[in-house]
Amino acid sequence: MDAPEPQPATAPSGAPTIRTIAMPADTNPAGDIFGGWLLAQMDFAAGTAAARLARGRCATIAIEAMRFLKPVYVGDEVSLYAEILHVGRTSMRINVEAWRRSREGEEVEQVTQGVFTFVAIDANRKPRPIPVQS
Ligand SMILES: CC(C)(COP(=O)(O)OP(=O)(O)OC[C@H]1O[C@@H](n2cnc3c(N)ncnc32)[C@H](O)[C@@H]1OP(=O)(O)O)[C@@H](O)C(=O)NCCC(=O)NCCS
Repeated sequence: MDAPEPQPATAPSGAPTIRTIAMPADTNPAGDIFGGWLLAQMDFAAGTAAARLARGRCATIAIEAMRFLKPVYVGDEVSLYAEILHVGRTSMRINVEAWRRSREGEEVEQVTQGVFTFVAIDANRKPRPIPVQS
């Protein structure tokens, strides 16, 4: 029996954490969107989710399982979805996915995925406990 056809991934439900547009200034020397720009957008999204959960300042301590799946093109709308996977004493693991939509189209496709760990820090940049969630 043939294996089932792989199904296209569907965008995460709900609102993205942040949304942005890939601009000509975000390209590499070859004219494609620079991976570092996309990584920065993912860090912004994870940082937004972390600061909200930890109710204050946080710092990125690790990035794992980072995958660049498809290219992003100038003019694309890029939506970043951040989901908290685990909350520790001072740290949070956050899954981030980026999805692109071409400027004129409706179809979306996933372009990256990575897991970011953030640590809640105090005014002296020392780890602080994440407040108990109500
Ligand atoms: C974030 C920082 C204050 C943490 O201080 P630290 O003394 O290294 O942290 P600790 O060893 O006390 O660990 C704090 C938490 O991070 C976790 N952690 C530490 N190293 C980790 C790693 N490599 N991966 C994942 N989690 C890690 C620990 O398990 C702990 O989590 P928990 O409290 O939920 O159990 C410090 O590492 C730092 O300032 N790093 C630079 C941050 C930064 O500048 N980021 C931006 C980069 S441009």
